[in-house]
Amino acid sequence: MKILAILYNGFEHAEAEPRLHGTVENKLGIEGWLASLGHEFIVSSNKEGPDSDFQKHIVDAEVLITTPFHPGYLTRDLVEKAKNLKICVTAGVGSDHIDLNAAVDHKIQVLEVSGSNVVSVAEHVIMSILLLVRNFVPAHEMIERGDWHVSEIARNAFDLEGKVVGTIGAGRIGYRVLQRLGPFDCKELLYYDYAPLPAASQQAVKARRVEDIKEFVSQCDVVTVNCPLHEGTKGLVNDELLSHFKKGAWLVNTARGAICDKDAVARALKSGQLSGYAGDVWDVQPAPKDHVWRTAKNPLGGGNGMVPHYSGSTIDAQARYANGVKSILEKYFNNQPQEPQNIIVGLGKYETKAYGQR
Ligand code: NAI
Repeated sequence: MKILAILYNGFEHAEAEPRLHGTVENKLGIEGWLASLGHEFIVSSNKEGPDSDFQKHIVDAEVLITTPFHPGYLTRDLVEKAKNLKICVTAGVGSDHIDLNAAVDHKIQVLEVSGSNVVSVAEHVIMSILLLVRNFVPAHEMIERGDWHVSEIARNAFDLEGKVVGTIGAGRIGYRVLQRLGPFDCKELLYYDYAPLPAASQQAVKARRVEDIKEFVSQCDVVTVNCPLHEGTKGLVNDELLSHFKKGAWLVNTARGAICDKDAVARALKSGQLSGYAGDVWDVQPAPKDHVWRTAKNPLGGGNGMVPHYSGSTIDAQARYANGVKSILEKYFNNQPQEPQNIIVGLGKYETKAYGQR
């Protein structure tokens, strides 16, 4: 069987650190195992354009392994060319880089390693909220420059205690963010999600659900985005929605870049409508050198907490998603049922309720 994996390059880092499983060099740790089973395993990072390894090998691969960190974008066009493709496995969480409707139409299954990196991301969200609210990045940059102006930093530094924090999406990550916010004594924790939390879970994190998104954002000092990217969330945070945010709110997005309109966010930051924007997800990845989020700043020259897409790719997370990919493949090879929570698209239909209401 031909198995194609599109991963990111680790170069010398992957050689020095074998636990970087998600790299082209370390091949999710499954190369020897697949060879012993007699499978052909092609691994590459080369994914853009008709001459790329991705487009060359997708035409006859049966299994495609991709990762959200360096996404092989499987468009409907490519799905139609992929005549042998039966199963797409996401090494991580978030399969929006696959045209899921095309996968449904062509009876290609899409699976991900659900839960594999949700704590990794939730921790990153808490860090990002704190670094924005406390004005950390400009403070550190000042120290490296050799300067020392406490007031310049303190004028835009606040406590998280007493603030209203809300999550768009209260699934695995959103819920873990709410749990981790508990000890900060925020004024209120809110969530916006078409799927209400079970009463006991909601009570456990003392969160309140707000059903209208404009009402929701207008009450939040901090908004964190933790829903998948699908037709209903693409461009959700745009000029119009940003105009309903509290003036000077902080926005953290570790979900997907395309959920936020990049120019609208940059404008809101520049005008001070947002005090800060942080996250690790970009539309597209790798982000172009001139992507406006690399350098966008608030009127005081701070408020940017952007990093490359790595929050869900810690060393701990890589072990979990590499193991998860192996276990999905094992089940596929042996015709065993997959873990239900890992199935995004089953044979000809969505199995998850998280990628939009249908
Ligand atoms: P999940 O499936 O457990 O939860 C998603 C939640 O979002 C569900 O409760 C769903 O009802 C809700 N939702 C869907 N559409 C919505 C909408 N229009 N408005 C409000 N809520 C909506 O997924 P999980 O594990 O929490 O992951 C969420 C997303 O985070 C992933 O789909 C992925 O895009 C992103 N992610 C990012 C990572 C990173 O490294 N930055 C790593 C892992 C996930």
